[in-house]
This record gives sequence, structure tokens and C-alpha cells, in this order.
Amino acid sequence: MADADLHRYRVAAIPGDGVGPEVITAARRVVDAAGARFGFAVAWIEILAGGAAIDAYGVAIRPADVEACRGADAILLGAVGGPKWSDPSAAVRPEQALFALRGGLGLFANLRPVTVHPALVASSPLRPELLEGVDLLIVRELTGGIYFGQPSEERPSDAGREAVDTMIYTEKEIRRVVLLAAAMAAKRRGVLTSVDKANVLATSRLWRKVVDEERRRFPTVEVSHQLVDSCAMLLIRRPADFDVIVTENLFGDILSDEAAVLAGSLGMLPSASLGDRLTRHGTFGLYEPIHGSAPDIAGQGVANPCGTILSAAMLLRHSVGAEAAAKAVEDAVAGALRSGARTRDIAAPGARDWLGTVAFTEVVLKHLAAH
Ligand code: NAD
Ligand code: IPM
Ligand code: MN
Repeated sequence: MADADLHRYRVAAIPGDGVGPEVITAARRVVDAAGARFGFAVAWIEILAGGAAIDAYGVAIRPADVEACRGADAILLGAVGGPKWSDPSAAVRPEQALFALRGGLGLFANLRPVTVHPALVASSPLRPELLEGVDLLIVRELTGGIYFGQPSEERPSDAGREAVDTMIYTEKEIRRVVLLAAAMAAKRRGVLTSVDKANVLATSRLWRKVVDEERRRFPTVEVSHQLVDSCAMLLIRRPADFDVIVTENLFGDILSDEAAVLAGSLGMLPSASLGDRLTRHGTFGLYEPIHGSAPDIAGQGVANPCGTILSAAMLLRHSVGAEAAAKAVEDAVAGALRSGARTRDIAAPGARDWLGTVAFTEVVLKHLAAH
């Protein structure tokens, strides 16, 4: 490989819908600036998905575009969906793009770290003392469970219309995500909480058995089981007690939006979706904020880009192996917040000095340049 190729990465950028393009533009600027600073360049491959692809091609993502994503080192995605495409009778839905990428590319582990920036403690509705020491990681199973089980349909029945969804897990699907989460816990504070609904669901009882079979492989990790309803309550009452939470797809979706309240706004939280596949530089992955397309604020230039910028930092860390650049981006976001820069969602109530997406991103870029 020629030397000039060594530090060139291929990243598929999928802006998507609503605020997606706004936050992706912000994150791309930050990644490009980090590249200039740390000696790498990103070749961006632009891909349409979600409502944008439905409008252009009639499908949520074209199979050839999934393949183009597969061929990249990583994917950076904004968000998909919106009222224009949410008719419950529609056969084609923007969210199908997410499932084609997550499922199609084998990205079974969705990492959703939740930290509370000290400067944002006042942005959370929780009392400050509850937020002290909050640093948790939700590992959400991403390619199984009720999101992918078949049948999933509405159909006629003797009692009129009925609908069915199928929650199904194989032990292999459970084991691989539990092992990944346990390995992460071993590298953190060594506390793993497996969340299920074993008092009701057969899939949860299998989940519990697999966790108990595997726990001896991680002698330094303290493993416990928690029912999801109780976990939802404890996440608010004693969030600092959690280290790594591992759970199935739907529970992880819900708990992570809840956990975003700790961080002050849904706009703050990043995510990384990983599988088994290695690239030349790290682990192949899909990186996206946990929020959606935020149709209520789309096009206004007020979206918080932190979740996407921090997702890009995770991309640099996991898929590109650029740890120093990843850390610099995270420090730049923290520096911007510490300096008082705020987007509207994290501004003090009634404050008027908040910044739009572009101006906030420029503060992050300034801190990155000074790093
Ligand atoms: P949402 O996450 O888009 O928005 C929820 C609330 O949070 C809104 O008030 C929104 O304004 C606010 N918000 C979200 N992101 C923000 C940001 N970056 N900065 C400031 N405020 C922000 O959830 P929703 O409204 O329930 O869903 C809208 C659409 O997004 C739906 O079509 C849904 O399917 C889709 N969605 C997509 C993804 C994804 O692409 N990964 C994730 C979640 C929801
Ligand atoms: C998320 C979203 C998606 C999910 C939706 C849009 C299908 O809520 O990424 O958290 O449920 O996985
Ligand atoms: Mn969600």
C-alpha cells in the first residue's frame, strides 16, 4: 500500500431526513478538521436513505447502496423518517433503511454511552446529586427480537383485523451480545446488569439462562439481572449505580431514550453499532445519534449536533483506530460546553444566548483547533 493511502478512510455519509442533514454536515466538518489536525483524510461516500430515498427511488435504501456501505470503513448516519412518510398503511417506510443496514450488515451490538457533562447538570430535570458520577453504557441487541421476528403483519381474523409481531431470539444471538457487553464491563467498572422481562417472556428466560451460563467467563465482572420495568425506575432514581446494561432490542430502544434525560437532551447522545467484521483499520460500524429526525425543528438550524459529532468520535475510535483524534473531538465538545456554548435544547430556561447548529459547531471546531 502506498504511504499516501495509509491515512485515507472511506466513510459512507447518510444524512437522511429532518434534522439529519443539518447534524451530518456539522459532524463532517468536525471529522474533516480532525483529519487535517491528525493526519488523515476521509473520502465521503454520499448515500440517500429514508424518506429522501423513498422520494428519489421509491425504496428506503437501494440494495446497491447497502453494498456501498458494506464496502466503506464505516457509516455515519443522521436520522430517517418524518410525517411525510408515516402513513400507517404505507408499504414502504423510511425506518426500513435502518433495518436493512443494521440487519444486512450484521451490526448486532448497539453501544449507547450515557455520560453527564458537568456543565449540563442544570439541563436535566433530575436533581444534581442524582447525576453525580453517572457514566453508563447501554448495549442494545440490534438485529434480533421483535424488530426482526416473523410474522409481523396485520391480517384478517374471525374477530376483525388482528396484528401480530414476533419476539424471537436464538441463544447464539443472545450469547454474542452478552459476551461483548461483559467484555466491555470488564474494561470499565466491572458491573454488568442484564435487563429482561423474565417474569413474563420466554425470550427473556432464555436470555437469563445464557447470561448465567456465560458469567463464569468474566470472573471480574459482577453480573446481575434486572426486570425492565424496575430498571426503568432505577435509571432515574439511582443512575450512577449502573455501569454496563445489556438488553434486547426493544427494551434497549426505550431505556436509551429515557437515559438521554440524564444527559440533558436527546440531542446529546451518540451510538455505535458494531458486528464481528474487521476492516483494515478497526471494526466496521454504523454511527448515529440516538435521536430521530426531529421534524418539529427540522430546517430551523437549531438542532443539537453533539450526538452526531460524538458518534463521529466513536467512529474514529472503533472503525478507524484514530484514538487521539476521537479523544480530541470529545474534548472539543466538552470544551465548547464548558465555555458556555449551548444549543436551544440544552440552554437554561428562558436563555436567549443559545447558538444555532452551525454556530455551535464552529465553537467545537475552535476548541478542536486549540487542542
Ligand atoms: P425524535 O428523536 O426525532 O424527536 C423527539 C424530540 O426530541 C423532539 O421534540 C425533537 O425536537 C427533539 N430532538 C431530537 N433530536 C434533537 C436534536 N438533535 N436537537 C434538539 N432537539 C432534538 O423522535 P420522534 O419525534 O418520535 O421521531 C421522529 C421521526 O424520527 C420518526 O419518523 C421516527 O421513526 C424517526 N426516528 C429515527 C431514528 C433514526 O433514524 N435512527 C431514531 C429515532 C426516531
Ligand atoms: C432508534 C430508533 C429506531 C429504533 C426507529 C426509528 C426504528 O428509535 O434508532 O433508536 O427503534 O431502533
Ligand atoms: Mn429509539
